[in-house]
Amino acid sequence: MIKPYTDQPGSRKEQVRQMFNTIAGKYDFLNHFLSLNTDVRWRRKVSRILRKLARESQIPLNQLEILDVATGTGDMAFEMAKFEPASITGVDIAEEMLAIARKKAEQKGLLSITFLSGDSEELDFPEQKFDFVTVAFGVRNYEDLEKGISEMHRVLKPGGHLLILEFSQPSGIMGSLYNVYSKRILPLLARMFAADPRAYQYLPDSIFAFPHGEKMKKLLLEAGFSKSYYRKMSGGIVSLYVSGK
Ligand SMILES: C[S@@+](CC[C@H](N)C(=O)[O-])C[C@H]1O[C@@H](n2cnc3c(N)ncnc32)[C@H](O)[C@@H]1O
Repeated sequence: MIKPYTDQPGSRKEQVRQMFNTIAGKYDFLNHFLSLNTDVRWRRKVSRILRKLARESQIPLNQLEILDVATGTGDMAFEMAKFEPASITGVDIAEEMLAIARKKAEQKGLLSITFLSGDSEELDFPEQKFDFVTVAFGVRNYEDLEKGISEMHRVLKPGGHLLILEFSQPSGIMGSLYNVYSKRILPLLARMFAADPRAYQYLPDSIFAFPHGEKMKKLLLEAGFSKSYYRKMSGGIVSLYVSGK
């Protein structure tokens, strides 16, 4: 199992929490910088697809109850707040990331979003509570992916949807370019700018070790979702997995 600090003791979850607490202050800047701001477009796309699914299910947007897991500094939640759903709850294991999310919410005047400390593998919510669960760049960090998926399935209402945005592995020329970028350039940039360069070595390592495409779809169907499909974005650098309960 890929861990951020391979030479140190502690479970993957503890190390992931420590890593995100350490890099929290620079997370937003590095996210936008290293992805050339494309991360904003990726999250916007998730929000658009969520709205389309809500329309198809004939649920008015202002009645939607949404859970954003591994919410971090809250960008996925803020993107969805634009269409004013009934509620958005963001949960994360890293308090420092949540502190920044709360500060941003205050600055944006979006105090209706609730940011809570919580573990995606043991969600502190009753069954069938949410219409949608979203996770942007979070599942790759779970200690127990199957458990995390089954928890997200549990808290969804029947007919609800899970939307997972996650890095995948592009193929062809895009794959070769991406390999060079993520294995050579990214760690170099991280050494120059990051508070904890090991975090940006962990990033490509965890991406290459993580299931994507059909493998991920299979895991989602095995967890009990009745349907699941995915679409690649930016040549397969990321994929969006949409699963219905
Ligand atoms: C790469 S950040 C993504 C943050 C945000 N969703 C975004 O789009 O920028 C991953 C987040 O997952 C959180 N995380 C990792 N494992 C978790 C778990 N088991 N439960 C809750 N959050 C977790 C980390 O603390 C971190 O804030």
